[in-house]
Amino acid sequence: MRFLEIKQITAEHLNSVVEIDRLCFGGLWTIEGYRRELGSPNSDLLGLWASETGAGESEILDSELESFDIFTPQNGAGTGAPPLQTTQTLIGLGCLWAILEEAHITILAIDPRFQGRGLGQALLWALLKSANRRQLERATLEVRASNSIAVSLYKKFGFQEAGRRKRYYADTGEDAVIMWRSGIEKPEFQQYLAIEKQQICDRLIQKN
Ligand SMILES: CC(C)(COP(=O)(O)OP(=O)(O)OC[C@H]1O[C@@H](n2cnc3c(N)ncnc32)[C@H](O)[C@@H]1OP(=O)(O)O)[C@@H](O)C(=O)NCCC(=O)NCCS
Repeated sequence: MRFLEIKQITAEHLNSVVEIDRLCFGGLWTIEGYRRELGSPNSDLLGLWASETGAGESEILDSELESFDIFTPQNGAGTGAPPLQTTQTLIGLGCLWAILEEAHITILAIDPRFQGRGLGQALLWALLKSANRRQLERATLEVRASNSIAVSLYKKFGFQEAGRRKRYYADTGEDAVIMWRSGIEKPEFQQYLAIEKQQICDRLIQKN
């Protein structure tokens, strides 16, 4: 059984964290930058791990962790993508900052070898769940205008474009699209998350 686990990153994972940052963003944050997140009560730095089996189902279900238990007998078959790892391997990162009643999503990244398999959705789901747990009211983020995959993912989760920062990214001169998702403190958002989780699991089973 393939198992995906999303949990808070701790200091021993930081080398893997910066490696994913390097692969996805070319080195956006340094290891010290990530270390600062670990010490901040207003920050959730989440990792997505893949493994052959979970760390013990009751432990996962009883804790704050999120798990996606996916049975994938033909893991990776026919997709051209490498199979998920048999030992626990960090394959994704997500970060949010809680600022007043807002969740600022600052990082969302899936190891390029594992993109397009439904994992970004799982991680974004976990960030929104975390924001809901913190009783934040809305979520926001900035994304490169050219990053159509990320924009499409965010729209899928109800984010809407609210404006642009012109020529925000110095390397290419492109705009940042500012996106917002409201209503995350509402009781119905929890129902929404439950339904989404089921769909994400179905997607993971299909794609992995
Ligand atoms: C953006 C990112 C996190 C998405 O993760 P992912 O695991 O590849 O995405 P998923 O497989 O979960 O797909 C989620 C949705 O994204 C969109 N998407 C994914 N791959 C896509 C593609 N090749 N073309 C168009 N849309 C795509 C779709 O809306 C998809 O939903 P669907 O499968 O129901 O159609 C990942 O591509 C990534 O790490 N990119 C580099 C870092 C980055 O740009 N982060 C965002 C910064 S704001």
